[in-house]
Amino acid sequence: MTIDANSETLKVGIVGAGAMGRGIAQVSATGGMQAMIFDTADGAAQGAVDFIGGMIDRAVTKGRMSEADGLASKERLSVAKTLEDFKDCDLVVEAIVENIDIKRSVFQQIEKVVSKDAIIASNTSSIRISSIAAACEHKDRIAGLHFFNPVPLMKLVEVINGTDTSKDTTDALTVIGKRMGRVPVVVKDAPGFLVNLGGRAYTTEALRIASEGVAAPHEIDAIMRDACGFRMGPFELMDLTGIDVNFPVSQIIYNGYFQDKRLSTAPLHESMMEAGRLGRKTKAGFYDYAEDGSLIQPEGQPKSTAEPMGRAYLPESAPDLEQFLRDLGVSVLSNDDGVSPILVAPVGEDCTSICVRLELDPQRTVAIDTVTGVHMHATVMTAPGANDDVVNSVIAAIQKNTNAVTRIKDCPGFVAQRIRAMVANLGCEMAQIGVASPEDIDKGMTLGLNYPQGSIEMVDVMGKENTLIVLEELQGITGEERYRPSLWLRRRALLDLPIHTPD
Ligand SMILES: NC(=O)c1ccc[n+]([C@@H]2O[C@H](COP(=O)([O-])OP(=O)(O)OC[C@H]3O[C@@H](n4cnc5c(N)ncnc54)[C@H](O)[C@@H]3O)[C@@H](O)[C@H]2O)c1
Repeated sequence: MTIDANSETLKVGIVGAGAMGRGIAQVSATGGMQAMIFDTADGAAQGAVDFIGGMIDRAVTKGRMSEADGLASKERLSVAKTLEDFKDCDLVVEAIVENIDIKRSVFQQIEKVVSKDAIIASNTSSIRISSIAAACEHKDRIAGLHFFNPVPLMKLVEVINGTDTSKDTTDALTVIGKRMGRVPVVVKDAPGFLVNLGGRAYTTEALRIASEGVAAPHEIDAIMRDACGFRMGPFELMDLTGIDVNFPVSQIIYNGYFQDKRLSTAPLHESMMEAGRLGRKTKAGFYDYAEDGSLIQPEGQPKSTAEPMGRAYLPESAPDLEQFLRDLGVSVLSNDDGVSPILVAPVGEDCTSICVRLELDPQRTVAIDTVTGVHMHATVMTAPGANDDVVNSVIAAIQKNTNAVTRIKDCPGFVAQRIRAMVANLGCEMAQIGVASPEDIDKGMTLGLNYPQGSIEMVDVMGKENTLIVLEELQGITGEERYRPSLWLRRRALLDLPIHTPD
């Protein structure tokens, strides 16, 4: 037996009236449920009720809610003087301090008060649900209900299944999550759950690329924003969340997965934290900030003053590159004339490897990333020792037609292929190990992290074969286990099956 999640009189108890508890109470009340708040700090629960009332009044003033709905929502809010007041609650959501011992003790107290059918859920972001449930008597009704900050604005909620959580409990929480106006995704009780795990690759791969000296943080950010449609570059994002938050989370998840190299971050990440360059909050992170907090954008690469190339030689078939050159008005030579630029469009390979494979003159060879948004923001790279005059003539020709060009150092997968392939690979691995369904993984990434696509959908944007090749080249060239492709991706690429095909 469990609760009737559709009941009109459903009652939610919320323990903790902080940033998250307030939000959870608000969406419960506006979702038509009774919301009772308890907090040990004097006046905190009443403060939360008043705060939420103000938020609801604002929604009414702005026309986002009718006056009658606003009034009814406010009437559904109340304060619990003690935990005993939760005795009639169908669901209790705990959102107190992130401390396992305190959470366990609060769960034990709640179990003593509520009926045996009531569900008890934690909003923890890092503690294993099964670890909290271990202290409880009826483990099947213990689950995670993980909201994102600020709750009323962030549509996603993770319903986390502990080892013993019953299907009835998960189903009921999914219904209640929807009633709260959220999009629930069902997630396994694993380090970082879904969103915090899935978000690792974007930042850690960017850190690796910057650490290798391939491109500067602001250049990597610009490529990911302009060529791939991410709302924020990885370094802007780390500065916003705070390096004192994202470095420890990276470490917890890396160790939680027993040092899986795919999840490792770079020493640069820790150096930033140790140096106290924590991001926006300290007005210094990967970027510098003015006194008013606004980001000081570093100078971009200078515009090329060279004579734009008029012709180029393509040593192997590259239809996208050929089309790009046609758009630029560059004529394509059928043979190498010994002086013109040699252009290549590698997938996963670095410029050095392609020069060796095709026996090209590395001084005149320029690689252009045509897999990712070349018209929006072109990335060009060369092998060490390239002739700057040749490279600048290529850049000048692209700058005539394209908004931005960034020249990077030699790198397998450039910047965008490499970061996207790593995000996609992690998405596929999460599907392989059952963190959530492929569809829920994609919802998690778009709604929880504002990615332009879900991480599994990203495979389709790059192409299954391309994604696999980028990873295999990265693994082959660097020799690093970090780049080993997920078996989920490998099988679907080799069999040419849709990437969401279940096992
Ligand atoms: N803030 C976020 O971005 C975020 C996002 C997702 C999940 N979480 C998780 O949500 C939980 C709460 O986070 P928060 O940011 O709202 O914290 P907060 O510090 O803003 O609020 C915590 C509240 O809990 C109260 N409290 C502490 N111990 C209590 C107890 N034993 N009984 C009753 N009340 C108690 C405190 O008085 C405080 O009002 C944590 O587990 C956190 O990991 C936070």
